[in-house]
Amino acid sequence: MKPVAEACLRNQAPIAEAVREPFADVTTVLEVGAGTGQHAVYIAERMPHLQWLPTDLAEALPGIFAWVEESGLDNLLPPKALDVTAGDWGLTETFDAAYTSNTLHFIGWTPVEALFAGVAKRLRAGSPFCVYGPFNENGAFTSPGNQGLDEWVKTRDPDAGLKDLADIEALAVGYGFKLENLKRLPANNLLLVFRFDK
Ligand SMILES: C[S@@+](CC[C@H](N)C(=O)[O-])C[C@H]1O[C@@H](n2cnc3c(N)ncnc32)[C@H](O)[C@@H]1O
Repeated sequence: MKPVAEACLRNQAPIAEAVREPFADVTTVLEVGAGTGQHAVYIAERMPHLQWLPTDLAEALPGIFAWVEESGLDNLLPPKALDVTAGDWGLTETFDAAYTSNTLHFIGWTPVEALFAGVAKRLRAGSPFCVYGPFNENGAFTSPGNQGLDEWVKTRDPDAGLKDLADIEALAVGYGFKLENLKRLPANNLLLVFRFDK
């Protein structure tokens, strides 16, 4: 049976709208931490010019396979196993764009660094990298809901937790990404549009 994340059903429409412009002129997209695969299906269905590769830890792949298969979309590639902390991501191709949602708060700072480092290796110069999720701003939570989420993810992994927007921007700059646009989406989530500049 397909796994269903209720949060995806709530946030998929605003996310798809927000990535429409940055992904208007790209073809291949690498998604990191695809989860259930719902965002991959929802966006690929609405942007048929994209060739979308969902990736996640191996344990998540059966659920993503189920979504991809049922969608019947030919612009959605079979999911691949990708652990951002692996030295070798097992990818040889370069992509026109990258996407990740709700991952940065879910993992620790070291894996977040690995994520930006790895994405930088797989993107062509000038590519957009869209990062969706909850962030702190000026060192503070932006809502009680986000604070609750921070507490919950730390029960799974003490190194996890919401990251501050300024810290993420500084990290991204170090890997050649410039924050080009910031869109405020419902439920105190942000869509950060980075541009890979190297
Ligand atoms: C909160 S879920 C978000 C899933 C989906 N992107 C969404 O927005 O609903 C975080 C995802 O990060 C993935 N993840 C955790 N650690 C990872 C790692 N080291 N490498 C790649 N993905 C990882 C998890 O398997 C999970 O699917």
